[in-house]
Amino acid sequence: MIAVEFKNIYIHIPFCEQKCDYCSFYSVPNPTPLLIDAFLDKVDTELNSMELLQPVDSLYLGGGTPTILGEHRLNRLIEIIRQRIPLHPDAEITIECNPESFDQARMKVLDGFANRFSIGIQTFNDQLRQMLGRKAARKHIDRALQLVHGRNVNIDLIYGIPGQTLKHWQEELKITVEVDISHLSCYALTLEEGTALARKLNGAIPSVDDETTAAMWEETGSHLEDHGFSRYEVSNYCKKGTECRHNLNVWYGKPYLGIGPAAASFDGRMRWQQSESLSKWLKNHPPEKDIIAPEYRMVEIFIIGLRTARGWTRERWEEIPLQDTLPVKWETMLRRAFKVKNRYPELLAADPVSIRLTSRGLLFWNTIAEAWLE
Ligand SMILES: C[S@@+](CC[C@H](N)C(=O)[O-])C[C@H]1O[C@@H](n2cnc3c(N)ncnc32)[C@H](O)[C@@H]1O
Ligand code: SF4
Repeated sequence: MIAVEFKNIYIHIPFCEQKCDYCSFYSVPNPTPLLIDAFLDKVDTELNSMELLQPVDSLYLGGGTPTILGEHRLNRLIEIIRQRIPLHPDAEITIECNPESFDQARMKVLDGFANRFSIGIQTFNDQLRQMLGRKAARKHIDRALQLVHGRNVNIDLIYGIPGQTLKHWQEELKITVEVDISHLSCYALTLEEGTALARKLNGAIPSVDDETTAAMWEETGSHLEDHGFSRYEVSNYCKKGTECRHNLNVWYGKPYLGIGPAAASFDGRMRWQQSESLSKWLKNHPPEKDIIAPEYRMVEIFIIGLRTARGWTRERWEEIPLQDTLPVKWETMLRRAFKVKNRYPELLAADPVSIRLTSRGLLFWNTIAEAWLE
């Protein structure tokens, strides 16, 4: 048995009813019950082969489509977790739920275990949902939102969908603040090579231009802020006290363990990723290690942390695990920050105790990341 120190765990459920046209995340469409059982057996074996030394603070069940497991197998997954993972009594437990496979029976199983529900809506607009090749109908979305009413709820939306106008997006935002949620993750559509959407479009419908996409991002911030949310990361918004603990830990360089095919892990020094193949993962194919010098790892952690609205404080920086073996002093980061700030004064704010992007800088995180690395 290997003793490990992770307080943040991600389990990737690598199945979907069907592939959405835009998605390049690893998942097996339309799995057989036998395959799902083989996956659950392996999760059980993996967790049984390690001893988690500390109570786990955040558990994230993502995918893929966790709700595809159905009542009986979700129960089994929860049983495995309860037996093998020492959960802290206040642990944040998130599960991603796809509206079309999320019903009363599944909610009954999940309620009392998960305390954070993430609903993949993507768009409330029927035509745009069709453009994305999403299976859910509006009635599924409404049912999902009703099921999680009163809980800690995130929804995922995508903007910049071909055919989507700024007016469409304003309508999405209007609905978003009307439904009972506390958190929104919203990413601009990336047209991934090899996806059905990239093939379908093939120049037939123009992508939304950068200017409109930026206007949509700005509109998101201002509309949500008028309705009690704040932007706490480039693409994430929440009401007070409902930041996603799991994601914050990942963004701030804390270790996390990923279980399942394609799942990524980080032990504070090294990152590794399990094979993007369920059959290889089932056969213990070794993960791919991302080995880089510790000082580059620290820069990488710093740049990812800059995506948060709060950015870095000296205290937070000194807390990151690599500091034990490789102290990169706050002053070193500060000197670099002042140089970058001189070049982009409207994008970066830096003073002796904190380094963070300005609200405009959050839109240009890429620019600052590149300048930092030059
Ligand atoms: C990998 S999915 C898993 C969640 C769940 N299966 C679902 O579809 O709702 C996580 C989120 O990534 C986002 N996503 C996936 N592909 C994307 C793309 N090409 N562009 C932008 N966002 C994307 C979607 O918002 C999605 O909800
Ligand atoms: S977006 Fe979600 S449901 Fe669609 S294929 Fe990707 S993981 Fe599966």
